[in-house]
Amino acid sequence: MPDPTPPTRAPLTELPKPTFADDRATLYLGDAVETLPLLPEASIDALVTDPPYGLSFNGQTWDDASGFRESLPHIDTSAMSAPEVFETWCTAWAAGALRALKPGAYVAAFGGARTWHRMVRGIENAGFEIRDQIAWLHTTGMPKSMDLSHAIDKHHGMQRTDRIVQTTDHDGVLGATRTVLSKGTPVTEDAQQWDGWGTALRPAFEPIIIARKPPEGNLVRNVLKHGVGGINIDDGRFADGRWPTNVAFDPGQADALDVLTGTWQGESLSRKFPIFRFEHKPNAAERPRAFGVSHTTVKPLALMRWLITLVTPPRGVVLEPFAGSGTTVEAALGCGTRVVAVEKSADFLPLVTSRIERMLP
Ligand SMILES: C[S@@+](CC[C@H](N)C(=O)[O-])C[C@H]1O[C@@H](n2cnc3c(N)ncnc32)[C@H](O)[C@@H]1O
Repeated sequence: MPDPTPPTRAPLTELPKPTFADDRATLYLGDAVETLPLLPEASIDALVTDPPYGLSFNGQTWDDASGFRESLPHIDTSAMSAPEVFETWCTAWAAGALRALKPGAYVAAFGGARTWHRMVRGIENAGFEIRDQIAWLHTTGMPKSMDLSHAIDKHHGMQRTDRIVQTTDHDGVLGATRTVLSKGTPVTEDAQQWDGWGTALRPAFEPIIIARKPPEGNLVRNVLKHGVGGINIDDGRFADGRWPTNVAFDPGQADALDVLTGTWQGESLSRKFPIFRFEHKPNAAERPRAFGVSHTTVKPLALMRWLITLVTPPRGVVLEPFAGSGTTVEAALGCGTRVVAVEKSADFLPLVTSRIERMLP
């Protein structure tokens, strides 16, 4: 049964007072779907964002259909499936972003492997052109797979006495994770038949969608008039000046490739790709904590800086409608651009302001 559509409330008619504002960063507490349409039209040079993926990550409401329905009080979503609600929500925030972006401005938006097609459709429905996607390959993802054989034993009411499971609470940040140290011996005949079967692969890539607000007519004239419309190839180069690729690695993936392939034409193959660390639990410097709160889905600063560099003109304005702990905000300030950010949860705002403060001259 779909969640009920939440009651309607009066829409915002003007931008709320920002939680933080100086000449480089502006941070709003609010819902991106409601806030973005109120930003000055054609005022933003690039959208670089890490939105919810619609996967109910760790049971967070900000990542599930109930959170998306809350953002859409004027749309009847009661007959929609959860993926349809997610797509409708993506269309809604992307439409607000389209208005705020200058013609020709680029978008770099993370998505989840299972749901990004809905986000891409939402971005396209809103009026953007889909230009490319970057695959960020990593090695440390954990499979969320059901052990079918064990589930069958449980279904038949049988316990495995030799099954060993370890629970780790990760500092209370990621919620408890359970590691199966020994899956135990299947008890029933059905369980023996399905031993070794699961339901999911280990996640090893995240897609980053590259889109663009349609330029006004001819691209060259658009670039000259609005100052956006191109990708900053030279500042996005890596290693010894390689052309930026639409595949990026984490160090583990790069090592694995080199071990498998050895060298090719006298050099390791991984040098052909940019490398950014991926960690489920980033170190304290990259995962701020304030008032006992930390964020569960922190992106690496270096990766966000690279994306911002690729799609934002020097001293341009970056928009991040889903600030979280503020990684995009800190990366934008580190790149010397200005940034406008929105975050719906008041709990995360001190994390963002702590990042802004540490970037102050
Ligand atoms: C994937 S997280 C961003 C994490 C961030 N990249 C970081 O490194 O910390 C997405 C964020 O979007 C916020 N969010 C969810 N729905 C929102 C909405 N409708 N408007 C604004 N923010 C929203 C969530 O509270 C969450 O912090």
